Amino acid sequence: MAVRSLFQACLLAPLISVAAANPIKGKIGSFAETQKLADPSYGPVPGQDPLFSTYYGKDAPFPGYLRDVVLPTKKGPPGTDDVVWQNLLSAEWIIFDFYQKAVESFNASSFVAAGYPNTTYQRIQEIRNNEAGHLRLFQNMISATSVKPGACEHQFPFYDATSFLALVTVLEVSSMAFLTGLVQDAKMSSSQAAMLAIAETETRHETWSLLEIWKTNPFAGPSDTVFPYANQILDTTNGFIVPGSCPKLNPVYPSPRQGLPALSAGKDTKSLLPGATISLNFTDPTNQPSFMPDCQYYAVFFHGIANISVPINTTAWPEHEIHVTIPKQFETKGVIAAVVADTPGAPTKETVVAGPGIILEQPAALAVALL
Ligand SMILES: *[C@@H]1O[C@H](CO)[C@@H](O)[C@H](O)[C@H]1NC(C)=O
Ligand SMILES: *[C@@H]1O[C@H](CO)[C@@H](O)[C@H](O)[C@H]1NC(C)=O
Ligand SMILES: *[C@@H]1O[C@H](CO)[C@@H](O)[C@H](O)[C@H]1NC(C)=O
Ligand SMILES: *[C@@H]1O[C@H](CO)[C@@H](O)[C@H](O)[C@H]1NC(C)=O
Ligand SMILES: *[C@@H]1O[C@H](CO)[C@@H](O)[C@H](O)[C@H]1NC(C)=O
Repeated sequence: MAVRSLFQACLLAPLISVAAANPIKGKIGSFAETQKLADPSYGPVPGQDPLFSTYYGKDAPFPGYLRDVVLPTKKGPPGTDDVVWQNLLSAEWIIFDFYQKAVESFNASSFVAAGYPNTTYQRIQEIRNNEAGHLRLFQNMISATSVKPGACEHQFPFYDATSFLALVTVLEVSSMAFLTGLVQDAKMSSSQAAMLAIAETETRHETWSLLEIWKTNPFAGPSDTVFPYANQILDTTNGFIVPGSCPKLNPVYPSPRQGLPALSAGKDTKSLLPGATISLNFTDPTNQPSFMPDCQYYAVFFHGIANISVPINTTAWPEHEIHVTIPKQFETKGVIAAVVADTPGAPTKETVVAGPGIILEQPAALAVALL
């Protein structure tokens, strides 16, 4: 899996997965029933109904089976943060389906047989329930004048209990990093507070997996990683979406979408730890960067609340690979996000020319095992 923004890893790994592109099973609600979601008081309320914590069924919980778009019920300008919440809701459908497919694909014995604690399947169901609660919360944050995005069909590269749990760790820590960026896109302080509360929930999920699954120290140093350009991370999750499967009325995801070339570590990568030298691979043959001959480019690594820029030599690319050393100053903790930029520090999103790649550092053994 490598730097292959473990998100993008997903594009590369064999999709013989148990979870490949099967539609969500069980009951699926009608378009008409889905429109009832426009009323924020319709159905169970997150934080007030145990459905979003302790439901142990296999079928998708509310509102995960109501997969159409919810049309606006009022005319008028969009709410201040509607676009931000639409981006988050579209992303949440991916995450919800990831856990829902796991609940459908596995049972308690699958995890016990693979050597994990006998509570693992329950916890996965509980995380799935939390994610269903996020769907409902985000729907309600979008005002009545804007579309609430529906679900696409998704594919995930897990094929057994261990590969699924590895992906859990990567997705949760990536969610934590991406929310530090998304919160900067929100204008209303109430939106920012809600996003912080969601990031805290993702952190609890991540902490559970570090303690119970990987049996490791859960602490990631004094600060988790801030990555300011949330939509760039979201864009990499398009790899989980079955092309052409999204509801026609869904907004562009993410919006706005830069469509940057995907960035990953080369297949020859031996280590992703600070101090390791890696080669850069732009993994999508149809979307390659174009480097200007007289311009100095940088690999910019984000870790904690800091970033470190390392000049790279692009003159002989693509004939020769670009090599770069992951800054050795960084603690082997949490996650590193890497981009290629034309300005040190990548001070604006426009200065980013490729990436991001998400580099898992904790548990270090897992990051290396995933190579
Ligand atoms: C899990 O599924 C397997 C295979 O279908 C079955 O043998 C096993 O009894 C199931 N375990 C539980 C706890 O349902
Ligand atoms: C689960 O494991 C714990 C300790 O590992 C054990 O005490 C408990 O009996 C097990 N529960 C079941 C249902 O197997
Ligand atoms: C770069 O990524 C592509 C797409 O996954 C892969 O086919 C290719 O082998 C990779 N190249 C290197 C040098 O890692
Ligand atoms: C960059 O690579 C080119 C081609 O390999 C080489 O000629 C040049 O000296 C390198 N530049 C720097 C600053 O290392
Ligand atoms: C990266 O760090 C530099 C120096 O501290 C800072 O000026 C720059 O704004 C940072 N980049 C981002 C995207 O936050």
